[in-house]
Amino acid sequence: MDKEVDVFYRELPKVELHAHLNGSVSFQTIEKLIRRKPQLNIEHNMTAIGKGQRRTLDECFQVFKVIHQLVDSEEDILMVATDVIKEFAADGVKYLELRSTPREETTTGLSKRKYIETVIQAIQQCKKEGVDIDVRFLVAIDRRNGSQVAMETVQLAEEFLVSSDGLVIGIDLSGDPTVGHGRDLIPALQRAKNSGLKLSLHLSEVLSQYDETNLLLDIPPDRIGHGTFLHPEMGGSENLVDKVVQKKIPLELCLTSNVKGQTVQCFDEHHFKYWYKMGHPVVICTDDKGVFATDLSQEYKIAATTFGLDREAIWKLSKQAIDYIFAPDSVKQQLKQRWRELQPEFK
Ligand code: IMP
Ligand code: ZN
Repeated sequence: MDKEVDVFYRELPKVELHAHLNGSVSFQTIEKLIRRKPQLNIEHNMTAIGKGQRRTLDECFQVFKVIHQLVDSEEDILMVATDVIKEFAADGVKYLELRSTPREETTTGLSKRKYIETVIQAIQQCKKEGVDIDVRFLVAIDRRNGSQVAMETVQLAEEFLVSSDGLVIGIDLSGDPTVGHGRDLIPALQRAKNSGLKLSLHLSEVLSQYDETNLLLDIPPDRIGHGTFLHPEMGGSENLVDKVVQKKIPLELCLTSNVKGQTVQCFDEHHFKYWYKMGHPVVICTDDKGVFATDLSQEYKIAATTFGLDREAIWKLSKQAIDYIFAPDSVKQQLKQRWRELQPEFK
């Protein structure tokens, strides 16, 4: 591996907008969790998908279940969130939107409210320690849990939108895309939007979700997660593409995640190419850096080598991501200033 090239990606200031907390847990943190809970008999190969390995989407969702067993108390969440934030900062991420599904665990006394409070505590703790990263939180709705839980999640997020001093800023819709139908979640998502919460929705992550995607695009979301099967070349439709283009909805694209999860055959065939060529807003993200054994520097490098992007184009891509963050304009201005200060000479 060319060390000098790697340094460029590592030092590149980056914005991470699509990171699930429990999917982002590193090998080292998993090690600590396994030591805390030896009785679970969990091994590393059950929590991550290594180099060259691939899994079906269904198998990926089994991995999350294993991690959830390891992360089931306030103490675990605090450790996991703090570690994940510091790891992103060490990878050169200057602004991070972390997302996670609040869970309650009767055995440890964890409530959904406490779950969110603990993530906020981790963010504040890192800030106090001077970790060089601005972190915000998106409360996630797991589509598997249905409309009522979705509505309760939005209500909880609304409270934190008011009380968290700008840390809780939006809602994520995620979970197994083959379970449930997005139409049932529209009232909750619409309510979230009306209360000022930003919306990032996993859309068209699998084939044949035309009706659902078409309905959810009408809300509309502020950003789209994956959007793998939106365009006709992937079995989507012109109509969906037109809506996304007209509304200028940015796409969060996660190359390794899609290839390892087998929704995309190989990097060359990733839909990054389609949208980037069109000049549509795209943001490179990790999705689950722990589960898919990657990091954001690596993802930028993969994009560069696969699609032939030079350093200047990569710089532009990382800087452009600032425009699509959910934090207010003042934060965008601060980040742009940071990028100006850090910009290298391009020969
Ligand atoms: P958590 O919300 O912090 O517990 O992170 C893990 C959860 O994120 C999983 O249980 C899924 O609901 C969601 N998730 C992670 N990756 C994906 C993905 O690629 N598609 C859909 N949902 C995902
Ligand atoms: Zn995701």
